[in-house]
Amino acid sequence: MSAKLVLGTEIREQILEEITKEVAEIKEKHGVVPGLVTILVGENPASISYVTLKIQTAHRVGFKEVQDSQSVDISEKDLLALIDKYNNDDSINGILVQLPLPKHINEKKVLNAIDPDKDVDGFHPVNVGRLMIGGSEVKFPPCTPAGIQELIVRSGVETKGAEVVVVGRSNIVGKPIANMMLQKGPGANSTVTIVHTGTKDMASHCKRADILIVAAGVPDLVKPEWIKPGACVIDVGVNRVGEKVSEKTGKKIAILKGDVNFDAAKEIAGYITPVPGGVGPMTITMLMKNTLKSLKYKLGII
Ligand code: GUN
Repeated sequence: MSAKLVLGTEIREQILEEITKEVAEIKEKHGVVPGLVTILVGENPASISYVTLKIQTAHRVGFKEVQDSQSVDISEKDLLALIDKYNNDDSINGILVQLPLPKHINEKKVLNAIDPDKDVDGFHPVNVGRLMIGGSEVKFPPCTPAGIQELIVRSGVETKGAEVVVVGRSNIVGKPIANMMLQKGPGANSTVTIVHTGTKDMASHCKRADILIVAAGVPDLVKPEWIKPGACVIDVGVNRVGEKVSEKTGKKIAILKGDVNFDAAKEIAGYITPVPGGVGPMTITMLMKNTLKSLKYKLGII
């Protein structure tokens, strides 16, 4: 193994400690803590486990956490009214509606109803626009791309002038991370290429990458020969390829695979994220960071 492992599990701990410390300081000085509401509609098992982890993490860093679980048949109108209630609740700084929503609810309409200044997911068009403008306009970078940038920066990888190739053009990872890496400023200032299903020769682009960010959702899409020796490889893929029995709990758990052939890639790359344990732990961490930021904006201390 030649690559240095970029561990989200470790970097998460550093960031959560920083957040916990800052929350305690704000509480002492201003008498308030960040408030986060998580709205869960229905009982999708994956959503329940994400939301449970979000609640646990929010408690750990000292936030006020409101868990609002709604029945799967809540009407769109009632869900919009609920969002409006939290938009007007002074103790709530961040509103998160867990996706996916049931088919009878228009997801776009719901996300657009969240006050952009409480949109800690960064999915509202206003926040997408702010991200595009960059610099001090950016309020809430979307959590997974923000986590990727933290992993790169905290690993000491040079981004200025780096060739960054992003595989995948989704609205929640590919497009925003590409946009973030091209902005002028620390942790970015890169030359960015996005490759996607319409790209003629994906391999030739990947081979140029000093930083290769892969968010395609296709197991083992990136072949070892596509990786430039010494490159930083960030694998966002979380593909369920089977099940196994956990040695720890004795329960059935999913076997996860990334979009990069890890075993071969780690011999070529300079830095690489494992799956699981790389990007995954960063998403909720950055949600906490955005919620804290939201309170800081409100208090005028940022
Ligand atoms: N479902 C899966 N990931 C996410 C996320 O990051 N935010 C929200 N709101 N829902 C999700």
